[in-house]
Amino acid sequence: MSKVALITGITGQDGAYLTEYLLKKGYTVHGIKRRSSLFNTDRIDHLYQDPHVVNRNLILHYGDLTDSMNITRIIQETQPDEIYNLAAMSHVKVSFDSPEYTANADGIGTLRILEAVRLLGLTNKTRIYQASTSELYGLVQEVPQKETTPFYPRSPYAVAKLYGYWITVNYREAYNMHASNGILFNHESPIRGETFVTRKITRAVSRIMLGMQEKVYLGNLSARRDWGHAKDYVKAMYLILQQDTASDYVIATGITTEVREFVKMAFAEGGVEINFRGEGVDEKGYIASVDEKVFKEKVGEEYLPVILSKKDTVVVAVDPQYFRPTEVELLIGDPTKSKTTLGWEPKYDLPGLVADMMEGDIKLMKKDSYLKDGGYRIMNYFE
Ligand code: NAP
Ligand code: GDD
Repeated sequence: MSKVALITGITGQDGAYLTEYLLKKGYTVHGIKRRSSLFNTDRIDHLYQDPHVVNRNLILHYGDLTDSMNITRIIQETQPDEIYNLAAMSHVKVSFDSPEYTANADGIGTLRILEAVRLLGLTNKTRIYQASTSELYGLVQEVPQKETTPFYPRSPYAVAKLYGYWITVNYREAYNMHASNGILFNHESPIRGETFVTRKITRAVSRIMLGMQEKVYLGNLSARRDWGHAKDYVKAMYLILQQDTASDYVIATGITTEVREFVKMAFAEGGVEINFRGEGVDEKGYIASVDEKVFKEKVGEEYLPVILSKKDTVVVAVDPQYFRPTEVELLIGDPTKSKTTLGWEPKYDLPGLVADMMEGDIKLMKKDSYLKDGGYRIMNYFE
């Protein structure tokens, strides 16, 4: 009998990678998807199976973390061995605009899952993974951050996730449930949501290099993040639920990088060197030089005249609308526990991640080839 997994947030970045990973391991995967007016299954379309397929091993259910009866019914029907609770209103800046909804989905949503498993008598059968976050460390109390570092959340998102973290610990201790937190630091990919800073940068840089956009406006260029690849991080989620004993783990690379440096690395993928001048809201990024050989190889010879004509022009500027009321300036994780206990080791470093994202977005922005190839559907993430 194959194991049964239930994934909330299956249409998101992590949900898509985890689904493919578990299917390859022989799991039957159930996913919870919100009803929307358009299809929002692009990231998992290459895995989708029609309801009329006999013995299909990927089944989608309509649902929402704010609806406890719906969540309870789906858990009852699917009787999962493992639940991966990845669904969330996951954008930190947006959580300042929708704080109550964020608390409901990200905080109480976690409780709804734990309580459903308990009420259905599944505490001995079902293991639960809770998508906790490095945002819990917020105004960091220790560098680097590890499992014992005190939390200091700095946004409605992080405060909601703080509830999710502690209610998971509480159900583990109160009811002896196999419920674990993965405290994941930022992880990105070619299918990262378009409004997170890395993807915003790789999309914009690709468009600038193809002559489709003049410049990109960003917020705090000095923020530092510990960025890894989502492909590596979903493997850690799986490993956490394979342990005999439930526990909480930091998943990180141990290296931190400024947003400003990420911008330089993205341009450098196409052989374009960027210089930053000015300070604060007046800081700007200029094209300093172009390595024509690299540009031709990575972007295309036909786009070379466009980029050469932009030498010394501004391609990056600061717009304070992207600042946050309270910012998380520095995140850097200590993954010692996950490496020694789980045997988790990331394959991608930051240059590898940037290269993967830039390759994806240059291809995506060359619209003709994107449409011809069928968008996300061409991808087999783990091949
Ligand atoms: P994502 O791409 O934003 O995906 C979020 C998923 O949650 C989407 O499938 C979304 O559905 C779904 N969702 C949102 N609200 C929901 C609701 N009320 N009911 C049901 N589903 C809902 O996020 P991600 O990057 O994959 O992250 C996965 C999880 O890890 C999130 O909980 C996030 O907070 C957490 N996390 C992420 C990172 C990171 O760096 N990526 C780091 C630490 C923790 P739609 O497609 O319909 O919007
Ligand atoms: N989004 C965005 N847009 N962020 C910007 C911009 C911009 O134009 N300019 C600078 N930044 C800065 C933000 O202020 C923040 O300090 C940093 O870039 C990273 O922002 P995001 O990519 O939006 O990610 P995040 O760190 O706030 O949150 C992500 O990682 C968390 C884990 O630490 C999300 O995936 C969360 O769901 C996740 O929990």
